[in-house]
Amino acid sequence: MIDLIEKYNTEIDAYQITDLVELEQFRLYYLSKKGILSDLFQQFKYIDPVNKKIIGSRLNQLKEKVNGKFEYYKSRLTRAEKPFTGDLTLPAEPFISGSRHPVSLIRKEIITAFSKIGFTVAEGPEVEDDWHVFSGLNFPLEHPARDMQDTFFIERNPDIVLRTHTSSVQVRVMESQKPPIRKIFPGRVFRNEAISARAHCIFHQIEGLFIDKCVSFADLKQTLMFFAREMFGDKAQIRLRPSFFPFTEPSAEVDVSCTICEGSGCNVCKYTGYLEILGCGMVDPNVLEASSIDSAVYTGFAFGMGLERIAMLKYQVNDLRHYFENDIRFISQFKSAY
Ligand code: PHE
Repeated sequence: MIDLIEKYNTEIDAYQITDLVELEQFRLYYLSKKGILSDLFQQFKYIDPVNKKIIGSRLNQLKEKVNGKFEYYKSRLTRAEKPFTGDLTLPAEPFISGSRHPVSLIRKEIITAFSKIGFTVAEGPEVEDDWHVFSGLNFPLEHPARDMQDTFFIERNPDIVLRTHTSSVQVRVMESQKPPIRKIFPGRVFRNEAISARAHCIFHQIEGLFIDKCVSFADLKQTLMFFAREMFGDKAQIRLRPSFFPFTEPSAEVDVSCTICEGSGCNVCKYTGYLEILGCGMVDPNVLEASSIDSAVYTGFAFGMGLERIAMLKYQVNDLRHYFENDIRFISQFKSAY
């Protein structure tokens, strides 16, 4: 009987089933009441009890093999036979590609504009010590910007703060590099301000620093003029108003002609024809000396601007909070090729 079982074993392995008709033939031949398996089990009854154990186990293996093969082909063939019920004429699921955040777009544009005139990017830490944010930048001890009202303190005495401006990177770069220096520093800054349409406690700045022999205020003006035209178009005009920063002397605030009314007056520029975009000035000799740069040999200029503010002007957004809420209806309006 063992030989017979072996014979069926190889026969089953070789048995070809290609459709449901052949599957039914397979079932009738091996599994039906008059099929091979039931015949074998019939014969098994008369086997000598000594051999029953070994033959019984072989026989069961054969049965499992037949059932396994049958079930396998049954599921394979019936699945393939099932007609496809979906509607092939329906449009596909829309593929929505992501886009860059408007602040990232503006940062990229500003970096590209300045890279055309030789500025390269450097970065510094957001958590800073007092020296890099204030003292190294000529802030007197009693300066109000050091106050709890403006600055987020991480530790007191010695003070560790969240930087309130990217000017801290000026100090880091001047400490570690020799002039000529021609760099811009993009980054996040933090100020303890109430959140409103025009102010936020976290925002982004880009700082610029140029130090070399014979750098003059005229160079600063031309650099900013170039930047304004790259950013706001060929017709853009700039206007400098005297101002004050502890780390620059003289200092100025820079306005650009209103992109919406082109200078004729509208409610965005409050009928002045100009919008404020940045602060700047000639690096104070005290700041150069604090970073061991000889102020008798070198001069330089610096400027700093808020990215959200420039993005507001460029994209005509009237509430700063939109930039932080990540509302898809707002941010999906901005598309870019990069
Ligand atoms: N750090 C200044 C600010 O945050 C901007 C500034 C940078 C002004 C560089 C002058 C020079 O307002």
